Amino acid sequence: MSQSPKRKRPEELRSHRWYGVKDLRSFGHRSRTAQMGYHRSDYAGKPVIAIINTWSDINPCHSHFKQRVEEVKRGIWQAGGFPVEMPAMSLSEPFQKPTTMLYRNLLAMETEELLRSYPADGCVLMGGCDKTTPALLMGAISMDLPTVFVPAGPMLRGNWNGVTLGSGSDTWKYWAELRAGNITEEDWQGVEDGIARSPGHCMTMGTASTMTAAVETLGLCLSGYSSIPAPDSRHAQMASLTGKRIVEMVWQDLKPSDLLSAASFDNAVRAVLALSGSTNAVVHLIALARRAGFDLDLDRFDALARTTPVLANLRPAGQYLMEDFYYAGGLRALLVQLGDLLDLSQQTVDGRSLGENIAGARVFNDDVIRARDKALVERDGLAVLRGNLAPDGAVIKPPAMEPQLQVHTGPAVVFKDYNDMAERIDDPDLDISADSVIVLQNAGPQGAPGMPEWGQLPIPQKLLKQGVRDMLRISDARMSGTSYGACVLHVAPEAYVGGPLALVRTGDLIALDVPARRIDVLITDEEMAARRAAWQPPAARFERGFGVLYLKHVGQADSGCDFDFLQTRKAEPQKGEPEIH
Ligand code: FES
Repeated sequence: MSQSPKRKRPEELRSHRWYGVKDLRSFGHRSRTAQMGYHRSDYAGKPVIAIINTWSDINPCHSHFKQRVEEVKRGIWQAGGFPVEMPAMSLSEPFQKPTTMLYRNLLAMETEELLRSYPADGCVLMGGCDKTTPALLMGAISMDLPTVFVPAGPMLRGNWNGVTLGSGSDTWKYWAELRAGNITEEDWQGVEDGIARSPGHCMTMGTASTMTAAVETLGLCLSGYSSIPAPDSRHAQMASLTGKRIVEMVWQDLKPSDLLSAASFDNAVRAVLALSGSTNAVVHLIALARRAGFDLDLDRFDALARTTPVLANLRPAGQYLMEDFYYAGGLRALLVQLGDLLDLSQQTVDGRSLGENIAGARVFNDDVIRARDKALVERDGLAVLRGNLAPDGAVIKPPAMEPQLQVHTGPAVVFKDYNDMAERIDDPDLDISADSVIVLQNAGPQGAPGMPEWGQLPIPQKLLKQGVRDMLRISDARMSGTSYGACVLHVAPEAYVGGPLALVRTGDLIALDVPARRIDVLITDEEMAARRAAWQPPAARFERGFGVLYLKHVGQADSGCDFDFLQTRKAEPQKGEPEIH
């Protein structure tokens, strides 16, 4: 095990400025710590570890964090640290409206400012439900203190009358069957009761499973642990081991900036592609990389997708769920299959290289984790499209769509916003056929706002009844990682800021060519220019509060939707950081 030669002395700890010096302010810090029942021997000369916990009564994916945080603390105490739990905003995917994505950057700011303003020497981040993972890490990368992430872990497989159910994917599937009249209300209630039956995040290869796997590949959580089901006793062990490890990392001064590199982000992109992970990872990994000072962009995703096979047979692209993936060997076994496609020299929080971490990992079910010569899809798990409809790019997930739609031309049926679509999509008089292209405008980072997961636009009820299950759909929204279909997503620039998507009209022909990576509206340049000249910007959506800040500073999808004033390179010491008195 390679060890960092650096070793901090107690007086070099950041928390020394609060606890170690002899002045009036530090008297206050010590006396107020005593007020909470701690003796000075509990913390003197020890690393203070901030545990940023996104537990909440309204976040079912993190309902076990009340217990897990005690296990993290146990590890910190055992290793000679001083744990301080700091609750942070819990972005609860199923409940928060209009979308948790509106608040990802707010949690990132909260994380950074908690770490900056309190006596933290290192941190443990507790997250997993979709946006919590990138948000916590964006903040921690910017602050650049020693950091380990504790992934919430997937929930157990869903079950209804003996049928295995997967989060999200089976919701959409059985909702379509209910609307088509193929199942009863009683069946639907059975699905409702059985689809989420334990703590933990969604157990399909949705955004949560995708991002936690990306974080492990980046080397920011303990190796081998991102795929453990949340209720498994090994998940509790991971929490306590994380507590032990972060204390040692503080002494070693092992920070995200020592671990992250352009190559480690390439590794994470490869892992996401091999998992057929959520398209949301494109936005989040770009944001994370840019916080760390690396120019990851859409073209890099496309380039890596051309040589990365899909090896995980997981829903929605495949058959199994995260519990099966863990029993089949988990992420370490998958990374072994990728082998020479990865840069195994990258360093991790374990104090070892990625290659050392995964050495000897075995596959125990080769249908769940495929060998490269038995890949689910040989390449192109994701494709980046450009054209006159998306000059700054758009993404699509070819394995999750019906193959005949990969090259398709059809007439647009345009909805000017979500409410327009909700009102008209099931209208029996709507002029639409299976060949039509459903277009949703104003669902992007600013337009929705928050770029919600509306991208899996609903198929009209009358077409569902005819047996249609996939159509070409285009929007500037995102799509849940548990969704599927021929959905062109993240169109940039978005309609709300005057991107070409805003100029499409019902009846225009739209052409998709995935092999050629093109998405175009078949109108002349002159017609496009005339429509642009006539386009009126929509009214501002917020007059007060966080929304004003959000709209002023949020970036487009191709740049990761971070705030412009946070997307700085590296975590340089803050010029204006206040003196601590
Ligand atoms: Fe939390 Fe899906 S709802 S991860």
